[in-house]
Amino acid sequence: MHTYIFLNKFRLAFSFLKCLFTNPSSYGAGKISFAGDGIISTRPKIELDEELIKSFSESMTLHIPQRLHKYSYISHRAQLYYFGASLAFQNNSHLPMVECGVWYGFFARTTLKLFQEREINVLFHLIDLFGQDQTFFKGKGKFNEYSDESILNAVNSRFKNYNVEIHQGLIPDVFNLPSIQSIKKISFLSCDLNGAKAEKDALEFFFPKLAVGGIVYADDYGCQGYEESRKVFDEMLSDTCIPLKTLHSPALFLKIKD
Ligand SMILES: C[S@@+](CC[C@H](N)C(=O)[O-])C[C@H]1O[C@@H](n2cnc3c(N)ncnc32)[C@H](O)[C@@H]1O
Repeated sequence: MHTYIFLNKFRLAFSFLKCLFTNPSSYGAGKISFAGDGIISTRPKIELDEELIKSFSESMTLHIPQRLHKYSYISHRAQLYYFGASLAFQNNSHLPMVECGVWYGFFARTTLKLFQEREINVLFHLIDLFGQDQTFFKGKGKFNEYSDESILNAVNSRFKNYNVEIHQGLIPDVFNLPSIQSIKKISFLSCDLNGAKAEKDALEFFFPKLAVGGIVYADDYGCQGYEESRKVFDEMLSDTCIPLKTLHSPALFLKIKD
């Protein structure tokens, strides 16, 4: 097995080397860069979208502890999220959007700033524990970062100029809050909970409320270690949605019928 992995790495390295000496216009060869999130690219991608990069950079740093700045490799995800939310807005502009799994709201903040610049005013419901339960993620490696009780203050500051409602609590219990029970129809649902059980709970509650033309953003869909999540999305969405499965982690699902 190790020999196979080694040979495969060698083969990949050789292909990249070949790119360096090939005519840049053939096969997309040219400047090789690590674009983050498992993508090695030979052509610029979102670097060409200056507005998005500006909004994303602000979102990754504003009221965010220095040690978390390393997560800026997720810019491609932010771009897909923004695209999904824009499509959802175009199809159902009068309906609110929901994010289950917010943490500091890297994607929602990037998108809301870009929406504001385009004079799009849509309500976002942000649902998360926001560090409320200090023990929930204890001993779960990098998930310890979700237990910080200062997250809620940071989120309040980050979103103070935007049209958001913040709901703190454990999914699915938090869905009993009157402020969430009153949400009847939505245009966009982001699921980024790092766990199949919570993602299933979120879909069971919100997917029936998603209008036709609505979008589900599934952050963990293509990520190694999240096979159970992928199964949940496939099982619950494939009959009524058209999926867009990407080269990196997230997928989008467009709801085409109830
Ligand atoms: C990867 S982070 C979300 C990142 C976010 N989408 C962004 O744009 O920055 C996952 C979040 O899911 C939340 N979470 C996981 N399970 C949960 C549950 N059962 N109830 C509420 N929140 C949960 C964690 O508190 C954490 O903030």
